[in-house]
Amino acid sequence: MRIVRTAKAHVNDIVRIGKSHWFYEEWITKKYIENTLNNRGFHFTAFVDGKIAGSIMVVEEDIPKFWIFYFIVDKNYRRTGIGTALLKRVTEKMKKDEFLFVDLAYTDRTGMNFYKNNNFKVMGKVNNWFEKGKSAVIMAKKI
Ligand SMILES: CC(C)(COP(=O)(O)OP(=O)(O)OC[C@H]1O[C@@H](n2cnc3c(N)ncnc32)[C@H](O)[C@@H]1OP(=O)(O)O)[C@@H](O)C(=O)NCCC(=O)NCCS
Repeated sequence: MRIVRTAKAHVNDIVRIGKSHWFYEEWITKKYIENTLNNRGFHFTAFVDGKIAGSIMVVEEDIPKFWIFYFIVDKNYRRTGIGTALLKRVTEKMKKDEFLFVDLAYTDRTGMNFYKNNNFKVMGKVNNWFEKGKSAVIMAKKI
């Protein structure tokens, strides 16, 4: 596996992999990914055998708060440590005592397990976070 800084040339694959997972979501567009890439933060993409296997986009919203905006590993490559490696690449760039936040659907057991295993703590539940009636769990990791 090779992890590189995300470039514009990676965007189409990043959108494709995200859409194949969140096929019911309308916000995953080339424009959204390109805009996110232009935001200050940490954006990394993982390659396996020359193919894009996953990507993480972390935006610095206000100091010292970082948010995971987009994080996907292609389903053919999951549970092989790529997600953990992408996350590690981001946290290595952050400074001590900074926080990395993520918002998850309240029902997202996979995400919850993944983040707990990577030492994120539950910060709280927020009602109507994504849309009316859809709650979120906010988790964070202190560097
Ligand atoms: C969450 C995601 C990015 C994890 O990527 P990954 O490359 O599969 O993660 P890793 O292989 O590094 O997994 C690390 C650990 O997290 C936990 N984990 C990961 N996927 C899990 C699952 N489906 N069920 C339970 N635990 C899981 C496990 O403890 C795993 O270690 P193990 O395989 O040794 O048991 C990936 O599952 C994914 O893209 N999911 C769909 C999109 C998504 O949920 N994105 C994050 C929400 S913002």
